[in-house]
Amino acid sequence: MDVIDAIRRRHATRAFLADPVDGDLLRELLSEAARAPSGGNLQPWRIVVLGGEPLRRFKAEVARRSAEGVRETPEHPVYPERLWEPFRGRRKAAGSGRYAALGHADGDPAALAALTERNQCFFGAPVALFFHLDRRLGAAQWTDLGLFLQSFMLLAVERGLATCPQAFWAGWPETVRAQLKLDPALILVAGMALGYPDYADPLVAVPTERVPLDDFATFDGI
Ligand SMILES: Cc1cc2nc3c(=O)[nH]c(=O)nc-3n(C[C@H](O)[C@H](O)[C@H](O)COP(=O)(O)O)c2cc1C
Repeated sequence: MDVIDAIRRRHATRAFLADPVDGDLLRELLSEAARAPSGGNLQPWRIVVLGGEPLRRFKAEVARRSAEGVRETPEHPVYPERLWEPFRGRRKAAGSGRYAALGHADGDPAALAALTERNQCFFGAPVALFFHLDRRLGAAQWTDLGLFLQSFMLLAVERGLATCPQAFWAGWPETVRAQLKLDPALILVAGMALGYPDYADPLVAVPTERVPLDDFATFDGI
């Protein structure tokens, strides 16, 4: 598969089959993704992978706390407090696609609850990944982790797998820390669902737009 094919085929996948993912394959993909560049070759990424019984326990604990009405304070803001244009509109458009895929109007509370529940269950994926950094690291190293994430997601596509990165888990820092027995020096940047896509589900790959090149790049002398 060409890189361009993997880029075009990757989608935030929000519906997975229960089919297991081979552990050796997963180890191979993570090892290869670590070829991603990082400033000073710091390779700052730290990853915890859950599957099987540990994942079931994790989800059960989140479901229990959620049912009790527990709300945790994120350790970092996923978005600025009030988004402005054009970002606000783009975020809304991406969200609208998900509501429409579920057959609901924008912001419908039942659909929001369903989407939250799906996030909470890693969209039915058999594998959950948690990506962390040493919390003393800065913006440059958060960028490095982003490069790792995309490398990993493209490698997954090449092997017929699909992913959904999940900033959602930044909203559950205490539970993630306790359940993963995480070193307090680490901060969770994002989670991720991984598995084989369930193409029968309308949420499997909701289309998203991209703004035209001239809206985000300027050229001078070329
Ligand atoms: C760092 C990061 C965090 C994300 N967090 C979530 C999430 O918590 N839940 C979710 O449903 N999608 C999440 N997404 C998926 C984005 O909504 C998606 O990438 C975007 O709308 C573009 O769609 P596409 O990935 O299908 O091209 C996240 C994406 C990234 C890169």
